[in-house]
Amino acid sequence: MQFGHFDDEKREYVITQPDTPLPWINYLGCQAYFGLISNTAGGYSFYRDARLRRITRYRYNNAPFDFGGRYLYLRDDDAGEFWSPSWQPTRHKVENYSCRHGMGYTIIGSTYKGIEAHTRYFVPMDENLEIWQLTVTNRRATPAALSVFSSVEFCLWDAQDDSTNFQRNFSIGQVEIDDGVIYHKTEYRERRDHFAYFACSDELAGFDTQRDVFLGPYRGWDNPAVVERGAAANSVAHGWAPIGSHHVRLALQPGQSRQIIFILGYHENPKDQKFDPPDSQIVNKKTVKPVIARYRDSANVDAAFEALRAYWEGLLGICHVETPDPHTDRMVNIWNAYQCMATFNMSRSASFYESGIGRGLGFRDSNQDLLGFVQMVPSRARERILDLAATQLPSGGAYHQYQPLTKRGNNDVGGNFNDDPHWLIVGVAAYLKETGDWSILDEPVPYDNQPGSEQPLYEHLQRSFHYTLERLGPHGLPLIGRADWNDCLNLNCFSDTPGQSFQTTTNKEGKVAESVFIAGLFVLAGEELAAIARHRGLEEEATSYLAQTAKMESTVREHGWDGEWFLRAYDAFGHKVGSKECEEGKIFIETQGFCVLAGIGLKDGWARLALDSVRKHLATEHGIVLQQPAYSRYYLNLGEISSYPPGYKENAGIFCHNNPWVIIAETRVGNGDAAHDYYRRINPSAREAIGEVHRCEPYVYPQMIAGRDAPTFGEAKNSWLTGTAAWNYYAITQWILGIRPAYDGLEIEPVIPKNWAGFKVTRLFRGVTYRIEARRVGEGNAVALVVDGVPIAGKTVPPPAPGRTEVAVKVSLG
Ligand code: GLC
Ligand code: GLC
Repeated sequence: MQFGHFDDEKREYVITQPDTPLPWINYLGCQAYFGLISNTAGGYSFYRDARLRRITRYRYNNAPFDFGGRYLYLRDDDAGEFWSPSWQPTRHKVENYSCRHGMGYTIIGSTYKGIEAHTRYFVPMDENLEIWQLTVTNRRATPAALSVFSSVEFCLWDAQDDSTNFQRNFSIGQVEIDDGVIYHKTEYRERRDHFAYFACSDELAGFDTQRDVFLGPYRGWDNPAVVERGAAANSVAHGWAPIGSHHVRLALQPGQSRQIIFILGYHENPKDQKFDPPDSQIVNKKTVKPVIARYRDSANVDAAFEALRAYWEGLLGICHVETPDPHTDRMVNIWNAYQCMATFNMSRSASFYESGIGRGLGFRDSNQDLLGFVQMVPSRARERILDLAATQLPSGGAYHQYQPLTKRGNNDVGGNFNDDPHWLIVGVAAYLKETGDWSILDEPVPYDNQPGSEQPLYEHLQRSFHYTLERLGPHGLPLIGRADWNDCLNLNCFSDTPGQSFQTTTNKEGKVAESVFIAGLFVLAGEELAAIARHRGLEEEATSYLAQTAKMESTVREHGWDGEWFLRAYDAFGHKVGSKECEEGKIFIETQGFCVLAGIGLKDGWARLALDSVRKHLATEHGIVLQQPAYSRYYLNLGEISSYPPGYKENAGIFCHNNPWVIIAETRVGNGDAAHDYYRRINPSAREAIGEVHRCEPYVYPQMIAGRDAPTFGEAKNSWLTGTAAWNYYAITQWILGIRPAYDGLEIEPVIPKNWAGFKVTRLFRGVTYRIEARRVGEGNAVALVVDGVPIAGKTVPPPAPGRTEVAVKVSLG
């Protein structure tokens, strides 16, 4: 069953039924001002940091789930009846409902008793504001006298404090109303230099800023007293809950349309120019007024929308593919790339499943997100890498998370996740391969943001590598610390107290539990670091890295292999995890995918054996589960993984993030059929037809799909913010289609299904457009390249002569 359809031409998903199984959301903004918007206009906005600069309020775990948002009410002033064109919050039975989620914008609308209304929501490029562009049309045969009411509920900035500290917060709310613009200025009188504003393009019949006046006692957003009455109360909030609402009257002749623009924005003033006049308490509006004036004009709004479209047109043009599979094309060309932008911006901080309060940007997550983002806006990738590296600790370890506004490491969670440092090498390698910008390695970057501790970025990578060498366990494998990639495999935790954090509770010294996963990651990162060292002319250093990775590889062979698959770990007693000797959790996906991806076992057939075991024990029709058999009880020595009921999350859920590791691993053993088959199983577009099972958005990857041990097998959860976005983009473009940026040029090595006759890719790489056409000439994966009509040896297309910006590559595969 479907709840809408793709419109690929417009790059939109069109939802045609408002009560989707879960809110199906979109992101507005892609630079500094962000909003989340559901298909019924629910959601919230913030500037840079979802916790510290929250602009609008959102109540967590509400029912309905996406309640609270950017609501507009229409009122028929003759009939005295009102409704919302976005269905929520009044939930009238509207006709022709549709929600079009597009690239950085959402259009929601419907018709009610002959009054058609739709609203286009978006954030103009380079602005800290969002536009709601409402168009109302009278489709009746008679004139209509209407009222429009807007509504937002302001958050008192720190979203955590806002939802807990009521004894203070009910007394601090402040607003100003000036020229029909509502300014939210809570705490501006003291240390804040920022305020929010809510403006309207039309003359107002009235306004409201006090929530309880607007709603009336014991009423909700579905039935505000002011809207019911049809007249704003011109309330001014002093304390309690400041809101913004405009009231505009509209008289529409039959067939007539009108547009009203609402502008919700964030603005900062220089600290010494906060007030105007300077000795007053009145917000200085000198620099914000021109911004508001610009967007009160619909011609400027239309131009801003066109600029947003052009921006995405450019970004999505960087890599364009044409394959025999429409789901592949749609995801790569539109939605997967778009999701990579969202994961780059948000990491795991703000979605409908990540509150924006709890987590900042993850060190491990953000580095992996680069794999799917570097080609889009390399300058932002560069900045992110330097920010991340600045939160690295002198030991080479890293804060697990940092706050995007302060860019400081998060002390609540701290460090000691022993995989973290290696992801920095992986992220930097991806950046270097894409851009060829070697200068980044010489950028001075501090440790733990301490001034004076600056060292070249390259030194940070060296310390990342050494971090593991200094932390080897009894078998010579890397010690796991609090956890490795799998945050829930907490082998030193041993928590028996409810409510303790599995990630930060440590009851063992940590000198025994080892991770085979980190060993695989160490090999991959070490080989990248060796290549980077060689590029810097550090031949000896490169050789020593390779000696270390070779040694680690043989340690994995000796102590990390279980006969038919790679072990997962050793616990704090030195017992095996992920072995046939275990009662449950005999085989895990992470090491099968990652060790093979890192090249371990390719020469001797172990890789093939490991992948056969994945197929036999872990693969299902909805994707590959994380481990088997699922843990049926809580294991003190394993931690959070066994806290989940079987089939969910890390306990044998289909954790989509590591499915692409197996996909890449299958390409490494030359099996394009299996690689693409696994890719298809979790591809949301391919799962659109089973919407009633999948339940999440069909246009973005979820973090998890319930595994076969779960009663809801196949049900997706936690859409949007997941490493799946970057990894799947990387897997399909760089490993299945095999168009792979490399240090010295564009490498081409497809491993596609046998029944694909070929494919085409246009790829913008280091300023050159490569038009690549691959044709199957046989069943194998051997590659022969013809570049601009000339056959070349090997699989790397070297950079063209300076000045040339187009290269044609013909690829024969067989
Ligand atoms: C979540 C975390 C990520 C972790 C994964 C597996 O997605 O954000 O850091 O690797 O879970 O536990
Ligand atoms: C929980 C989640 C896991 C996530 C971790 C870190 O344990 O299950 O996926 O990575 O929290 O916040």
